[in-house]
Amino acid sequence: MKRVFSGVQPTGNIHLGNYLGALKQFVELQNDHECIYCIVDEHAITVPQDPKELRRHILDVAALYLAIGIDPKKSIIFVQSQVSGHAELGWVLCCNSYTGELSRMTQFKAKSGGKESVGTGLLTYPVLMAADILLYDTDIVPVGNDQKQHIELTRDIAIRINNKYGETFVVPDGRFMKAGARIMALDDPEQKMSKSAENIHSRISLLDEDSKIKKSIMRATTDSDGEIRFDPVNKPGVSNLLNIYSALSGKTVDEIIAGQNWRGYGDLKKELVAVTQEALTPIKQNYNEIRESEELIRILKDGAERANAIAEPVMKRVRDKFGLGLK
Ligand code: AMP
Ligand code: TRP
Repeated sequence: MKRVFSGVQPTGNIHLGNYLGALKQFVELQNDHECIYCIVDEHAITVPQDPKELRRHILDVAALYLAIGIDPKKSIIFVQSQVSGHAELGWVLCCNSYTGELSRMTQFKAKSGGKESVGTGLLTYPVLMAADILLYDTDIVPVGNDQKQHIELTRDIAIRINNKYGETFVVPDGRFMKAGARIMALDDPEQKMSKSAENIHSRISLLDEDSKIKKSIMRATTDSDGEIRFDPVNKPGVSNLLNIYSALSGKTVDEIIAGQNWRGYGDLKKELVAVTQEALTPIKQNYNEIRESEELIRILKDGAERANAIAEPVMKRVRDKFGLGLK
């Protein structure tokens, strides 16, 4: 079985875009892959975090992982900082990467642009991500398109070290989401749905109440020609609604449109409200059951132990290749 590794940062507001673009795929992969899903808290501190809030968000994301259907009997779920190999390997990889290649990363440029002082962690963030992946002899990394450059860097570093020190790492492949899985903001369909947009009606968070789901969808931006058809260039708002409908229901857009006698966008929106509420209700129920339970902590501790059992032999291999420590 091929090994899969991916990570999500412990931040709030996990939304439909995250779910349909990434998390849903995590659930599907666990049936025929050995999956390791990490909550990357060490990545989160590359920007300032409130310690209490960070701890809360770690458990929020862990509970959401379980609530959407990641099964701890099949997959490993754990918190990055609970396995010391990530930071340790991160250092070794830092010593085999170049400031030039790191400062060329588009995400780094976007996050550091215009700032007077830039934290070192923001520059070395992709090296820590490479360590996450290489620490588990990972074959496949499912991520969004925005992470493509970081996967390329991971491969470059792995190949570089393999060439210099002999076979040390498995060179992983990225698995990127289809373009269709790009969910746009409800209030502005030219922008991606995002965690940080100011308008809460721009997104649907997975834990939104039914009344909030209704409000956000009913006020979603459409257009004035009144025709329901899939045309992302000329009708981005309506197409985004159809796209969400399709992803949540498993029906194609053609199937959705064919069966209907809608009189206007209002009818489409009302139906999408119902479909969304129906899809999120079980997730919310599962979430509420697991979030405050002792079981959640037990699963994360058990996950860290299982992760460490895979990571430790890889770390030993690395120490041996580099001549670190004692024999
Ligand atoms: P982030 O919100 O940047 O932490 O992303 C977590 C995961 O969700 C990544 O794999 C992203 O590529 C994916 N993602 C974020 N926003 C969207 C969106 N609007 N549509 C589809 N996928 C998304
Ligand atoms: N950088 C990724 C993001 O922002 C999160 C991440 C950290 C990750 N380490 C990873 C994803 C390892 C895949 C594999 O979305």
